[in-house]
This record gives sequence, C-alpha cells and structure tokens, in this order.
Amino acid sequence: MAATIVDGKAIATQVEDQVRRQIAAWRDAGHPSPGLHVVLCGDDPASATYVAGKARASERVGIRSEVHRPPADSSTEELLALVGRLGGDDEVDAILVQVPLPPQIDSGRVLDAVAPEKDVDGFHPVNFGLLAEGRPRIAPCTPLGCMEILRHHEVPVRGARAVVVGRSTIVGRPMALLLTNADATVTVCHSRTADLAGVCREADILVAATGKVDMIDGSFVKPGAAVIDVGNTRVGGRVRGDVDRESVEPIAGLLTPVPGGVGPMTIAMLMSNAVALAAARRGLAVTGAA
Ligand code: GUN
Repeated sequence: MAATIVDGKAIATQVEDQVRRQIAAWRDAGHPSPGLHVVLCGDDPASATYVAGKARASERVGIRSEVHRPPADSSTEELLALVGRLGGDDEVDAILVQVPLPPQIDSGRVLDAVAPEKDVDGFHPVNFGLLAEGRPRIAPCTPLGCMEILRHHEVPVRGARAVVVGRSTIVGRPMALLLTNADATVTVCHSRTADLAGVCREADILVAATGKVDMIDGSFVKPGAAVIDVGNTRVGGRVRGDVDRESVEPIAGLLTPVPGGVGPMTIAMLMSNAVALAAARRGLAVTGAA
C-alpha cells in the first residue's frame, strides 16, 4: 500500500486559523496584536522570498510585522545595535534575524544578541538549552512543524524509534530534542555515520534534513515508516527534497512531499511562536493550541 501523502498546506491553514482566532480574541479584549520584527540583511534571493512569505502570513493572521533591511555591507556592530534596539522596544514581541547573514557579519554574535524572550526562531542558546533540558520555552519553527505533522496524523511518537539525518542547529539538533522530549528513542545521523541506510531502516519515524537531493531512497525506509522530508533545495527553478519519492512512496506509511509538506508548516509555526512569545511577555492567556 502506498504512503499517505501529507498535505502540509492544509495543516498549516489550520494552525494559522487558530492563531488568527487567538489574536482576534486578544484584540476584542483590548490588547494590541503581536509585533514581529524581521531583520533581512543582504541580497540572498531565497531569504528575500522567505521573508516575503513571512510578511504575507503575518498579514493573514493579524500580526503586525515590520521588515528591517540594513544594507548588505553593514557591520556586525551595526546589526548588534539594531537587534539591541528591538530587544528594548516594548512594542516588539518577536524578533527574527534571517540567516544566512553576509560573510563579514559574525552571525553567532548577532543571533546571541537577540533578547531570549523575543527569540521567535528559538535559536538563542538560552532557548536551545531549555529545550535540551526538557523544559522548552520556544523551539525552532521547522522542527515544530514536523512535530505538528506527526501529531495531526496521529503518528505514535512515545516509544518509537526515530532517526534524524542531519545535525544542523536550525533543524536536525532541535528536531532530535523535540522527539526526545516526546519520548521517542532518537538517533542523530550525519555525513560520517557508518551504514546510514541500515540505521535509517530501523526508524519508525525518519526525518531527512541533509539538503542532498534524493539522498534517501527506498532502501533507507522501514515498511510503514513515517518519512518527513525537510529538504528544500532549488534545482533549475524547482524545489527538491532529500527523499526520492518514487522509491519511498510504495514503502513508507506516511510521506511529506516537497513542495507542499514541511515548507508551509514552518511559517505557520512562526506565527504560532510569535503568539506564544507575546502571551508570555504580556501575561496573556493562550486558548487552544496557538
Ligand atoms: N533561514 C532559513 N531558514 C530560516 C529560519 O527558520 N529562520 C531564520 N531566521 N532564517 C532562516
């Protein structure tokens, strides 16, 4: 039997609907809508596309979003000043510094300067540390989107064998932590893993976040496994995933397509994170799962 193909856009719409209802309820009670501030520095075309998508989503759900565009030749000090100013501005609930930053910028210093209580990406070491300790405050949006897909499709996570291929700070590492916190037994694989296909074949839940097109084929997949493809590589005008759909679809139980799987979930979870930060900062109640 062929895998169920996940409709990421439909799940993202449900998450956004919940966020929109939450913001509307706050506004009805006289509270301002959350303020999301995005820092976009440089000329990376993919980043410009992502940021435009984030601005459109903010508008759909009622988040006040503002994009700051410091020039591509900005210094680390200039970005630190901007991020510091946003951190001290009471109107700002959520800050996102789009990466990659231009090469002359010390990205680590800039990301570390984002106020942890406004860190909508969950990239700050304090938030990453809390996630690692099993008492998360805010977690990175793409792995949160993967967890939401598993929850939506009622994939059992507790006690499951999960394998994450990739150890990036944006996806692989936080994904492993979220799965661990949800009581999965987790293995993190990477470019030096011996017998990668053999390890992956043990997975009930297989998350591919390598950026290598079609790397995961049917020989990596246990029959019936949930396969989450986080790949998002542009090849000749098309977006391609890490999973070779043709050989995996007949074997897996669940499969996220590229495009249309994890991608739409990332922005939806960003909206949800912005609401969570605004709630925490202002002491507002969150109703529902937003
Ligand atoms: N660049 C690619 N993905 C992301 C993301 O999730 N957050 C930020 N800030 N930059 C990115």
